[in-house]
Amino acid sequence: MLGNFTYHNPTKLYFGKGALENLEGELQKYGETVQLIYGGGSIKKNGIYDRVLALLKKCNKTVIEDGGVMPNPTVEKLKEGTMLAREHHVDLLLAVGGGSVCDYAKAVSVSVFCDEDPWEKYYLRFEEPACKIVPVGCVLTMVGTGSEMNGGAVITNHAQKLKIGHVFGSEVMPKFTVLDPEFTFTVPKRQMVAGIYDAFNHICEQYFSGEDDNVSDSLSEGLMKSLIANSRVALKDPLDYAARSNIMWAATWALNTLIAKGKTTDWEVHMLGQAVGAYTDATHGMTLSAVSLPYYRHILPYGVKKFRRFAVEVWNVEDAGSDEEVAKAGLARMEAWMKELGLAMDLTSLGVTEEMIEGIAKATLVMDGGYHVLTHEEIVAILKESL
Ligand code: NZQ
Ligand code: ZN
Repeated sequence: MLGNFTYHNPTKLYFGKGALENLEGELQKYGETVQLIYGGGSIKKNGIYDRVLALLKKCNKTVIEDGGVMPNPTVEKLKEGTMLAREHHVDLLLAVGGGSVCDYAKAVSVSVFCDEDPWEKYYLRFEEPACKIVPVGCVLTMVGTGSEMNGGAVITNHAQKLKIGHVFGSEVMPKFTVLDPEFTFTVPKRQMVAGIYDAFNHICEQYFSGEDDNVSDSLSEGLMKSLIANSRVALKDPLDYAARSNIMWAATWALNTLIAKGKTTDWEVHMLGQAVGAYTDATHGMTLSAVSLPYYRHILPYGVKKFRRFAVEVWNVEDAGSDEEVAKAGLARMEAWMKELGLAMDLTSLGVTEEMIEGIAKATLVMDGGYHVLTHEEIVAILKESL
């Protein structure tokens, strides 16, 4: 049964080769001053920066440079970007990059007019913004997070050893996003596969929960099958446009609020992964891949029917034998695919040591929407098994 819901996603998408042309029309809707937000320099190397800057100049914008957003953006960088936006009274925050850059732009957007400490208000107390929000637009260059069409903004506080995501409402979602699959061609293979697994896991998080009679489950299976097939093509040939465009589109739908509607969701793999990220600063998708199989094997008995369906529908396991046998065979095929992609399959390779386990377990938020609510001891056991 579907629960009641309201569905509204305000992000306008421009998809495909040459989609950046549409930036000009979008820029005309906003005031003169644009904060141009980007990461560590990939957009300067691949020419996207020059193309965006040319359009900003053509529209007579005053450009406030805000580069150097790191993967897993920090609370210190958020303060810096917020000060910049305040000082220059910016009219638009234009994020050109991956999930980190888009997330950071959204975090700045709710901080500029916030008269409290944004970290405490949004990330420790999970309060909603009560202030004016500066509009955000995105040009996506790395696929995976879904940040281009959702309200999520994950910030890391290294001093407090916390990495926390706040999922803001539709007023914080990007007003528009440019999605040109060719912009992702220069993403290093390790990042590409981490992004693919991130998107895949977003679907798992929304799939492994609730009853088996929700249209979201069928949508999810279609998205997962498409990601698996296209990941294999992209792995062989990262310049295959068909594969990269399908991956980009599937990743957007994996986390743009649609498939979570009317059902419960889990998100425990992300909570484990984020706690690992707070301790190691490792690549997000890899923190998820390293803990996924120990977690799913642990919760399998509590949701065995769904794991059986996953095995049959997504991994083409023969629908014969006990629920447990079929379900386990599905996870075995998933494991083989993850190894094929070259994902991190253990936490040790990400820099986690035995001594960190207790701290990581404490930093892991416990969710109650999945098949089983973990105890602290279970979290410790799953983390140890993931080492
Ligand atoms: O910084 P630059 O030089 O641009 O390099 C980046 C970065 O090193 C590089 N890159 C991006 N586009 C490129 C490129 N390199 C070459 N060519 C290109 N076209 O890729 C590296 C990783 O970028 P990043 O933005 O960090 O990756 P991702 O998109 O995976 O974002 C990760 C962040 O998003 C959060 C994660 O926790 C993490 O902080 N998430 C956001 C979510 C959301 N908004 O809903 C949900 C996710 O679960 C996730 O938690
Ligand atoms: Zn994720």
